Amino acid sequence: MAEILPIGSAMAEAARRLLAGEAIAIPTETVYGLAADATNGEAVARIFETKGRPRFNPLISHVSDLGMAERIALFDPLSRKLAEIFWPGPLTLVLPLRKESRIHPLVTTGLDTIALRMPVGFASGLIAEIGRPLAAPSANSSGRISGTTAEAVERDIGSKIGLIVDGGPTPVGIESTIVKVDGAGIRLLRPGGTPAEAIEAIAGVRLERGGKAGVEAPGMLLSHYAPKAAVRLDAEDVRPGETLLAFGSKRIEGTERAAAFLNLSPSGDLREAAANLFTYMHRLDASGATVMAVEPIPRSGLGEAINDRLKRAAAPRDMPSRDMPRSRS
Ligand code: TXA
Ligand code: MG
Repeated sequence: MAEILPIGSAMAEAARRLLAGEAIAIPTETVYGLAADATNGEAVARIFETKGRPRFNPLISHVSDLGMAERIALFDPLSRKLAEIFWPGPLTLVLPLRKESRIHPLVTTGLDTIALRMPVGFASGLIAEIGRPLAAPSANSSGRISGTTAEAVERDIGSKIGLIVDGGPTPVGIESTIVKVDGAGIRLLRPGGTPAEAIEAIAGVRLERGGKAGVEAPGMLLSHYAPKAAVRLDAEDVRPGETLLAFGSKRIEGTERAAAFLNLSPSGDLREAAANLFTYMHRLDASGATVMAVEPIPRSGLGEAINDRLKRAAAPRDMPSRDMPRSRS
């Protein structure tokens, strides 16, 4: 059972748990968030684990102020104007990620863009307190509706987390609106708590809806963020010229001839493997080898999302993933 603390007395305990790498439930003005330090890969892996999500999708990162946001992402003038007017509040901006930012790649699923927002109230204060951005999807298990009260969060995922901060019912009750400035236009990626009309009134342009397949939800492209190398799953041996992405303590045949070798988790810990996945695929790719062999990885717990991502990486490139389950937040 999670400890439940009212916002008036939760700050120190919430900060302590977040800095220790826990995922905890906190109130925002939209819905309760399942929050973790966005710079800590294993903490972010705990979010996916707790939600029981069958796949990884990019998470929104929450900041305490515009300065923190500008250290993470590059703001064009229109995005900055929207932030100045609508923050703190239920508007999320998708922006180019700064290369030097310390956001863990599991948060963005390795994309070069990031979704950012500044929440109202306790959440912003908490982020300022720890001085780190928080990755936070809604605090519900995958496929369930978003929690808008501490009691709903407790019933759903209370047995899996250590702390729920109780801020009462969330005033907005639906997730934030997500937009992306694209040249002179703005794309609506997800309708939510900030009305499209309010954004249009400030921007002076109509929001573009729908649009290019796969762009709205970057993770939906089957080959989204595929490495350059072809990916060979459930490999039982390493063939000449291949790199090897390993898991656990037992090695497959031919490991010694791998062009490059990285082990997602020598101890077989799926949380550690999730945290390393995007970085290691990148690093093996950087070796220039044309095929990456991947050892079998268990399909339980976080292993399902890890295998889903590897399957996408192994798929023929740029096919919409209609055959894959849709992501749920
Ligand atoms: O109201 C909210 O936004 C809540 C509260 C807790 O703040 N948070 C929330 O976060 O809904 P989350 O992580 O579930 O939102 C994820 C969605 C993804 O499904 C995706 O559509 C979008 O944010 N997203 C994240 N990163 C993106 C990116 N780089 N490009 C496009 N969309 C992105
Ligand atoms: Mg959700």
